[in-house]
Amino acid sequence: MLPNKKIHISTYGCQMNDYESDRTFRLFHDKFGYHWTENPHEADLVLFNTCSIRDKADHKAKSSIGELKVTKDKRPEMIIAVGGCMAQMQGDELRERFDHVDIFFGTHQWNKLPEMIEQARGHQKFFPEQQVETNFENWKNYSFLPFYESNTSYRVRENVTIQNGCNNFCTFCLVPFTRGREVSRPVGEVLHEIERLSLRGVKEVNLLGQNVNAYGLDKRGEPDFVDLLDRVAQIDGIERIRFVTSHPAVMDAPMIDRLADNPKVCEHIHLPIQSGSNRILDLMQRGYHVEKYRELIQLLRKRMPQLALTTDIIVGFPGETEEDFQQTLNAVQEFDFDDSYSFIYSPRPNTKASKWSDQFIPNEVAKDRLYRLQALQRQIKDQHSKTYLGKTVEVLVESTENRAGVETLSGRTRNFQTVHFSGPKHFLCSLKNIKITNTYTYSLDGKLE
Ligand code: 5AD
Ligand code: SF4
Repeated sequence: MLPNKKIHISTYGCQMNDYESDRTFRLFHDKFGYHWTENPHEADLVLFNTCSIRDKADHKAKSSIGELKVTKDKRPEMIIAVGGCMAQMQGDELRERFDHVDIFFGTHQWNKLPEMIEQARGHQKFFPEQQVETNFENWKNYSFLPFYESNTSYRVRENVTIQNGCNNFCTFCLVPFTRGREVSRPVGEVLHEIERLSLRGVKEVNLLGQNVNAYGLDKRGEPDFVDLLDRVAQIDGIERIRFVTSHPAVMDAPMIDRLADNPKVCEHIHLPIQSGSNRILDLMQRGYHVEKYRELIQLLRKRMPQLALTTDIIVGFPGETEEDFQQTLNAVQEFDFDDSYSFIYSPRPNTKASKWSDQFIPNEVAKDRLYRLQALQRQIKDQHSKTYLGKTVEVLVESTENRAGVETLSGRTRNFQTVHFSGPKHFLCSLKNIKITNTYTYSLDGKLE
């Protein structure tokens, strides 16, 4: 136990990284006595949980790691560890570039972190030596970061990773290289974690996986995704279930039926389409066409009339013509997405599409497409928001803030709209019916019914 030690964790990228950082903080806080600090320069232990999905994420992490060099020179007892997807891909390269970093650890090595930190402390007394642990061969035995129930506070909605990795090898995506093949977490472990979270006051769980609806397919005979959701729904205190990210190729009518039949599954599905052009979908090796996507959406909307559908889109994929892009705009109109996360294609090492450099789209063209796509999406979102005016929605209260003497509460509806209203602090973590009185593009105002 190291009393009064301070920890700072910088997290980049997706919710899987958020989950891993949260769990790591809880472990280091409760088991090893670290306290959180917002300022990495005063921390005794700084962790970077990195992302490699696009070039931008890569650059951001590298510049923050670089900024700590001067501090480390002044305070050599500080331990700096760089983990996650970027460390997995570039461990040796990073080691050469950042000689002030003590530890590099890959996506499958979270469990080893406490031991590596202990070793780094020992080394400091004798000789400085960098440690690199990016072994990946054992991906089949991926060991999920152990759930360490902690005395730190929990939010009303918590993430729970249920699956890691991806088998799809979409031609743009680095994930199968950074996190390996799909591995599902054992059902018992997931249920135990959610039961414990519910005893801590958690009411909503967001189940995570790169290919979340393929949960269980790597373990034939074991419960599948919808079986797991049915079991989660039986846990006392859990009122709402979300999950992300689903893959359209694994979604089918029986799955949609069972999702709709589970009263705790929220009417909010994130289903990346990536492009509205079949030609580009084939080049991406997504395993579906717009027609299959349309069938799924029709079924989902039929079974979940309040559905808010969100998506991911890539613009400027190698070879994307203006016509292909128009088809993406058409798809955004047709599927009436509640929101979309859109990105300019970023070539990633090892991926197939990164080798098609003769087909790369000039950055100005890609930027213009992104701008047009986002303008259309904002317009659609704004129209959606307006439809809530005068309606009563169920809100799970997540946070409270005193705004000019008025206690303002915020929460989410089942279909993930953000709602603000005034009310007492003790409403936190409870479900309230709120009548919408004012709408904005990305949030709603209301009052208690
Ligand atoms: N370039 C741009 N966007 C990408 N994504 C994944 N890889 C890339 C890439 N190389 C996007 C996809 C995915 C989301 C998480 O990130 O849309 O669904
Ligand atoms: Fe990447 Fe495709 Fe797997 Fe998603 S499904 S993680 S985009 S390879």
